[in-house]
Amino acid sequence: MTKENLMKIIKDIKGTAHDILYSDNFKSSDQNMQHGNISVMKHSKKVACTAVAISRKLNLKCDETAIMRGALLHDYFLYDWHAPEHAGFKNLHGFHHPGIALENAEKEYDLSERERDIIKKHMWPLTIVPPKFKESWVVTLADKYVSTTESLHFIKAAKARKDKYAPSKEPIRIRRKEKYVTLHRMS
Ligand SMILES: [Fe+2]
Ligand SMILES: [Fe+2]
Repeated sequence: MTKENLMKIIKDIKGTAHDILYSDNFKSSDQNMQHGNISVMKHSKKVACTAVAISRKLNLKCDETAIMRGALLHDYFLYDWHAPEHAGFKNLHGFHHPGIALENAEKEYDLSERERDIIKKHMWPLTIVPPKFKESWVVTLADKYVSTTESLHFIKAAKARKDKYAPSKEPIRIRRKEKYVTLHRMS
C-alpha cells in the first residue's frame, strides 16, 4: 500500500466514522493492550485501514461504510483482557469477546446487518458460524493479518531487547600490575 493510498483511506475513515473515532469509549480502548504493546484502539484502526485496502485492491465493491465501522468496533469489548479477572482459560476471551463487543456497540450505535455480522463473526473459525457477507470475510482476513504482524513484531522486539542486554560472551581482559624488576648497580 502506498503512502498516498493509506492517507486517502485514513481520510475516508475519518469522514465515515468520526463519531466512533472521537467517542470516549473508543478512545478509552487505547489504555487496553491487544497484542504486545499495541492498544485495542490502534489495532482496530489498523484492521479498518487494512480491510479497506484489501477491498479496494481486489475491487470487491464492498459496502465500505460497513467495513470501516464494523472493523473499528470489532474488538469493542472495553476491558483489558490481560487483567487477572479476564485472562486465563476459564474466561475464554477469544470465544466470548465478539459477543461482548457487539452488545457494547449496539448500545451506542445503530448498526447495519453487515456491521453486526462483521463484529460477531470476526473470530471465525473460533466462532463456529462463518461470516455471511463479503465485508465480514474481508474484516476477518484483515484482523488475522494485522494480529499476526503485531504478534511477530512484538516477538522480534523482545528478542532484540534480550540480545541487547544479554551478558557479553567476549573474554574479560584484566590489566595486570607491572612486575618490579630489580636493577643491580655497577660498582
Ligand atoms: Fe477480536
Ligand atoms: Fe481484532
